[in-house]
Amino acid sequence: ELGPYRHFMQKEIHEQPRAIADTIEAVMGANAFVPELFGASAGEVLREVEGVQIIACGTSYYAGLTARYWIEAISGLPCSVEIASEYRYRKVVANPKQLVVTISQSGETLDTMEALKYAKSLGHDKTLSICNVPESAIPRASRLVYYTRAGAEIGVASTKAFTTQLVALFTLAVTLAKLQGRLSPEHEAEHLDALRRLPGSVQHALNLEPQIIGWAERFAPKQHALFLGRGVHYPIALEGALKLKEISYIHAEAYPAGELKHGPLALVDSAMPVVVIAPNDSLLEKVKSNMQEVRARGGELFVFADDDSQFGSSDGVHVIRAPRHVGVLSPVVHAIPVQLLAYHAALARGTDVDKPRNLAKSVTVE
Ligand code: F6R
Repeated sequence: ELGPYRHFMQKEIHEQPRAIADTIEAVMGANAFVPELFGASAGEVLREVEGVQIIACGTSYYAGLTARYWIEAISGLPCSVEIASEYRYRKVVANPKQLVVTISQSGETLDTMEALKYAKSLGHDKTLSICNVPESAIPRASRLVYYTRAGAEIGVASTKAFTTQLVALFTLAVTLAKLQGRLSPEHEAEHLDALRRLPGSVQHALNLEPQIIGWAERFAPKQHALFLGRGVHYPIALEGALKLKEISYIHAEAYPAGELKHGPLALVDSAMPVVVIAPNDSLLEKVKSNMQEVRARGGELFVFADDDSQFGSSDGVHVIRAPRHVGVLSPVVHAIPVQLLAYHAALARGTDVDKPRNLAKSVTVE
């Protein structure tokens, strides 16, 4: 069942080009971003939407945080994202014109299910679930559904579910933009092309594994790590820190890099490795200055960059470069190296990668 892999997590990381290709198959088949991708009646629901409220837990929540950047930038609709266990227990000011999007790999997470029920009790009837398990509880309770087609995810740490959630959410952002009249045919063609090329770009990122193994060996003896990103890559830093702590038990925290000098910089010394997600985007110069702040305190930098990022390795600065910059879908590609780093650090520490202590695959209790 594992084939050439040592763990389900490693296998599932390597399945991502196929999982993504399967998840976008319907979009590629339609050769357009059409509401029917979300269900037969989705046109009338999505057309009236005035905003988006995303609700999820854990890694699925980080997919939601990434989607907020896409939804607001591409569709112009306001978007908020909330952890399900918080949403369900507070007095929410509901706007039923918003689309409520729940994201769940298993479709059975209790807090997400209860948050959806609560949203419905507040008058939300435009509900969409992004889910990997057909006919599970959350999609059954939702009006619209987009199934990610990652296939069964067995490793407790979510990997291929996350990247397929991202492509489903990107598809949602572009579809909403089209319904808002904000998508030119040229942009639609560009986004289709970006999606079509994504499985190949993800494969290129997977090919970085030997370099990442080298980094993981340096990480294995560490007690703590810091992950930094900015903009749409900040949630990928969060996801990288979660993966590392969950399977290797190394304490890791993620910050938007601009927050460094508002507190966490005090932690940085030569014992603190700092992972930076630094593709070439409009924030790269700012990320570089954040990196200098780390170097000046003796912190060792591990930088995931891409072809265009224009910096190389130097003393205390290790750079791994993805072969090409993939534009708006860059967070999907940058999820791969942080998954591999966590996996190989855990392997070097000898932890039970597929079944980390204290955790369950599907959290059906509070
Ligand atoms: C982390 C992880 C968890 C899940 C979370 C939500 O690797 O797997 O954080 O993402 O428990 O689960 P789902 O997506 O099934 O609702």
